[in-house]
Amino acid sequence: MQPFPGRYPDTRLRRIRGHAWLRRVVAETSLSAADLVWPLFVHDREAIETVASMPGVERLPIDGILRAAGEAVRLGIPAIALFPVVEPVRKTDDAAHAYDAGNLACRTVRAIRREYGDSLGVICDVALDPYTSHGHDGLLEDGRILNDETVEVLCRQAIVLADAGCHVVAPSDMMDGRVGSLRLALDEHDHDDVVILSYAAKYASAFYGPFRDAVGSAAALGTAVGRGLGDKKTYQMDVANTDEALREVALDIAEGADMVMVKPAGTSLDVIHRVKTTFGLPTFAYQVSGEYAMIKAAAENGWLDGRQAALESVLVIKRAGADGILTYFAPEIARGLAG
Ligand code: PBG
Repeated sequence: MQPFPGRYPDTRLRRIRGHAWLRRVVAETSLSAADLVWPLFVHDREAIETVASMPGVERLPIDGILRAAGEAVRLGIPAIALFPVVEPVRKTDDAAHAYDAGNLACRTVRAIRREYGDSLGVICDVALDPYTSHGHDGLLEDGRILNDETVEVLCRQAIVLADAGCHVVAPSDMMDGRVGSLRLALDEHDHDDVVILSYAAKYASAFYGPFRDAVGSAAALGTAVGRGLGDKKTYQMDVANTDEALREVALDIAEGADMVMVKPAGTSLDVIHRVKTTFGLPTFAYQVSGEYAMIKAAAENGWLDGRQAALESVLVIKRAGADGILTYFAPEIARGLAG
């Protein structure tokens, strides 16, 4: 008995799924190490610390970062994204340590560049959350985040990072006008070759929780409640919106962004697709800490195949249109791809 008698006699889509070689050759999307960016946490301690909410992820001292960077190069991962864990005594209301050329982020960038030159891309976050006493990405006054005053500090932060040698600055703060200001500031300081990857569509997401544990901004943000602003919803986007994401991207492009990012990735596949098809510029997506943690936790419980789930979750981000994917799975996926 035919399933559709007389209607589609020759169409049997299962035929092209019948062999592994055939599935491979007809696959529309494939992943390679070149699609991946590896986010790394650096801290100013000697020990390697595990991050409880992100199994397999560690806070590393600078020499540990250098080893990880070496592994990235060996695995063919083109770039790392660096996140400093700033000691609480360095956190202040004015985030001044963000633009101290001797800070941990700058020292790490210099060490990586000394060791690996241009064989590995170094991407640095530009935002104040590691440096503010209250954990917000911007300066806080009377329960409000000050936009333009924050942008000035971001520019100073970006300049010390560029001086230290980072290839890409990635503003993740979501202040208005920061991309244009950063471009002007970088150019004025002879850094016209430094790339801006803007976190253009960054949502106020519950999936950043483990990251905030990893960098220690969760505790700081806890204190912000008493100061009238306990979440980031006045600057990060409402997850309900996608047209607004396109407006954010359009503005950032107009202001000089070279590449844009959508974040979190897994809950924004529609946004990634719209951004890529509308603007056609290099589009990155960040599979964030909570997305990683969910898969790891389920795998540790034996509830799903962690390796397959990781691969699938990253492949669909590529399928949605991402050119580059920041993911904590980067090394394990790259190792798997290498066979
Ligand atoms: C800070 C920043 C965050 C992430 C990257 N940069 C957290 C936040 O906005 O609170 C999240 C990354 C992740 O969850 O993996 N500006």
